[in-house]
Amino acid sequence: MNLSPIYKYGEEQNSYCQKIKDYYKNTLKIENPKAFVKTYGCQQNVSDSEKYKGMLINMGFTLTENQNEADVILFNTCAIRENAENKAFGNIGWVKNLKKTNPNLFIILCGCMTEQNSIIEKIKLKFSFIDLVFGTHSVHKFPKYFYETILNKITNKKSSAKNYIKETEDIITEDFPAVRNNNLKAFLPIMYGCNNFCSYCIVPYVRGRERSRNSAEIISEFKKLLENGYKDITLLGQNVNSYGKGLDENIDFPELLKKLDAFEGDYTIRFMTSHPKDATNKLFDVISESKHIAHHIHLPVQCGSNRILEKMNRKYTKESYLKIIDYAKSKIPDIIFTSDIIVGFPGETYEDFLETTDLLKKVKFASLFTFIYSPREGTPAAKLPDPVTKHEKTTWLLELLKVQEEISETLHKKMIGKTFKVLAESFLPETNELLCRTSGNIIVEVKGEKDKIGNFLSVLITNSKKESLKGKII
Ligand code: 5AD
Ligand code: SF4
Repeated sequence: MNLSPIYKYGEEQNSYCQKIKDYYKNTLKIENPKAFVKTYGCQQNVSDSEKYKGMLINMGFTLTENQNEADVILFNTCAIRENAENKAFGNIGWVKNLKKTNPNLFIILCGCMTEQNSIIEKIKLKFSFIDLVFGTHSVHKFPKYFYETILNKITNKKSSAKNYIKETEDIITEDFPAVRNNNLKAFLPIMYGCNNFCSYCIVPYVRGRERSRNSAEIISEFKKLLENGYKDITLLGQNVNSYGKGLDENIDFPELLKKLDAFEGDYTIRFMTSHPKDATNKLFDVISESKHIAHHIHLPVQCGSNRILEKMNRKYTKESYLKIIDYAKSKIPDIIFTSDIIVGFPGETYEDFLETTDLLKKVKFASLFTFIYSPREGTPAAKLPDPVTKHEKTTWLLELLKVQEEISETLHKKMIGKTFKVLAESFLPETNELLCRTSGNIIVEVKGEKDKIGNFLSVLITNSKKESLKGKII
């Protein structure tokens, strides 16, 4: 038995979708209702939004990029840092005005923000015009909740039934309809939730316990994506390296990669995110022997100071992290590393910070996602004394960015004169250039025709910039 029950999206949802369709057509007399979906945060949220879009289409909506003309506005929110929440609240406050011109407008809030009690209190107090609020565990219940919201509206009930938070256990839903924006690149979730409880992070509280999808479901979805012409598929999870734990099948992440890599054809497999504590030698052995797995690993280190890493509950040291990097380089000499860094964790000193810049110089990451620590209510780190000012943390961050800029520039310069296999992803008509991506996830601009989009090209690097490369097709 799998630890997490599996639930199949299907008949129940389709019947609610049909009722919603009928409501717009017969009661509201709207022939072509429009839905606007705004996504904040990580790839997992992008992937969830693809499901919301699929369900909205099943309900008879056309998707629009213009929130002013929408009949439904859905905010899929992020809670990872305070500024993500502030951005969402800013936008939600703004769309309130749209209800004046469209009294039938439904405003829906879902995603990680909604799983926090303090946010629910704030919504009740200041954002009571939101029609429906539901959490990350209820994605499959969206059609039911939305229909109930409509019924409440029709019967003019001002019931509080609009909040559906923490309702469902940690299940895995299969067979969602999904609408992907891009027809070359796709996200494929392989697991949900997180068990790591890094002391600064809200994710385990809002996304629940780690649960893996059955490999057969993943393989079948992967196969369909390939058949539909996708060329670059990113496997998603908060910690993909612990894939398989709790499943009744005997499988781990490297074994899953091997199975996916076995499909014929020209395509790239990517994955994120990898926790360093679970990045085994076997993972790099499998990448080095594979035909399709990208020579890139996003391996968030967060910090270079062992004292702070311990307080972060990361379960590795600077030395053990560097050991992983060395092994990866020995097996895959052209591997590209990227990472996440948090600057200004509570109690971090300038000396701790210098350990981080030292680590950057040793690893030579191609690029970084950098963040100033943001206290998240309910996490252990939020209770720690945090004497360093925001201003000082910002100076550290700028210093770090300067160090990283030099590293990226040097790394990019070293690529000049070398040939890379790249995927042509999009076309810039202003300059007649194709935007292409290397296996190592670096963007290369090359002169070329639009019809090359979707092809893997051989490109000679001719010049380098801070954040990208220039090349020519050979
Ligand atoms: N403050 C700042 N950054 C954070 N991250 C997670 N939680 C916080 C926080 N409270 C960053 C980590 C993580 C990335 C997704 O977001 O670097 O790897
Ligand atoms: Fe957050 Fe740590 Fe889980 Fe990543 S591994 S989602 S940083 S708790």
